Amino acid sequence: MENELIIHNVSKTSATGSYILNNINLALPRGSRLSVLGPSGSGKTTLLRMIAGLDTPDSGDIRFNGVSILDLPPHKRNFGMMFQDYALFPHLDVFANIAFGLKMKGMSKRDQAPIVEQMLSLTNLKGFENRKVDELSGGERQRVALARTLAPGPRLLMLDEPLSALDRVLRKHLLDQLTQILSRLHITTIFVTHDHEEAFAAGAQIILMNQGKIVQQGSPDQLIHHPVNDWIKSFMA
Ligand SMILES: Nc1ncnc2c1ncn2[C@@H]1O[C@H](COP(=O)(O)OP(=O)(O)OP(=O)(O)O)[C@@H](O)[C@H]1O
Ligand SMILES: [Mg+2]
Repeated sequence: MENELIIHNVSKTSATGSYILNNINLALPRGSRLSVLGPSGSGKTTLLRMIAGLDTPDSGDIRFNGVSILDLPPHKRNFGMMFQDYALFPHLDVFANIAFGLKMKGMSKRDQAPIVEQMLSLTNLKGFENRKVDELSGGERQRVALARTLAPGPRLLMLDEPLSALDRVLRKHLLDQLTQILSRLHITTIFVTHDHEEAFAAGAQIILMNQGKIVQQGSPDQLIHHPVNDWIKSFMA
C-alpha cells in the first residue's frame, strides 16, 4: 500500500540540549491505524504536535502524499488532533463545540447543521445538541471531542490518550466504542497511549517509544514475543 505520511529523520532537542525526539522514522500507509505506546515523557505528544504543525522539528522532514508539509501552518494541513484533556469550550454547547472547526472554515450555519447531525449520530450524541459541555459525563465529553475533531473531515486523525481522563471501568467499554467508530471511517489514524491493552486494541501496528526514540515497531505479537531488548521486555511484561 502507498505510504501517505512519511516522517524522515525527525529530531528535536530541548533548550538544555537533551533529545525530546531522536531521529524518528515512520511510514504510514493510507487508511492505516498506528498505536504509539510509551511511558510518560517518551515524546508521544511531541511527535503528534510536530505532525499537526504545532511544533517544528530541528531537523528532518514530514511528508504527506509525497509533499513536505513543514512549511504548512496547522490549519492548512487539514489534520485532526484530539488532545489529552479534550480542550472543549466550556461556554459553548455541544452543537457549537462540534461545529467549531466548520465555523473557522467560514462555513454558514445552514451548511454546518447537517454535518453536525452526522457527527452526533456517529458518536451516539443525538439529543445532546443544546447541552453545556461542563454538564456532561467524561465519556460524553470524550465523544464530543471526537465529533469536533472529525467534523471538518480531516485527512489524518491523531488521538492523544483519548481515554486517559476516564474512569478505569469506563475505559474498556469506551475503547470498544471508539475502535468501532474508527473502523467505519477509513481514515489514517494515530492513537497515542501508555496502556498496552489500549495500544493493541487500537492499532494493528505499534511503535514503542522511549526517551524520544522509536525502540521497536511491529505487531502486538512481535512486541510481546520478540522484544528487541531488555527494556522492551520489562516494559511489555
Ligand atoms: N517545549 C518543550 N521544551 C522542553 N522540553 C519539552 C517540551 N515539550 C516537551 N518537553 C519534554 O519532552 C519530553 C517528552 O514530552 P511529551 O509530552 O512528548 O511526552 P509524552 O510521551 O506525551 O508523555 P505523557 O505520557 O506524560 O503525556 C518530556 O521530557 C517533556 O518534559
Ligand atoms: Mg503526552
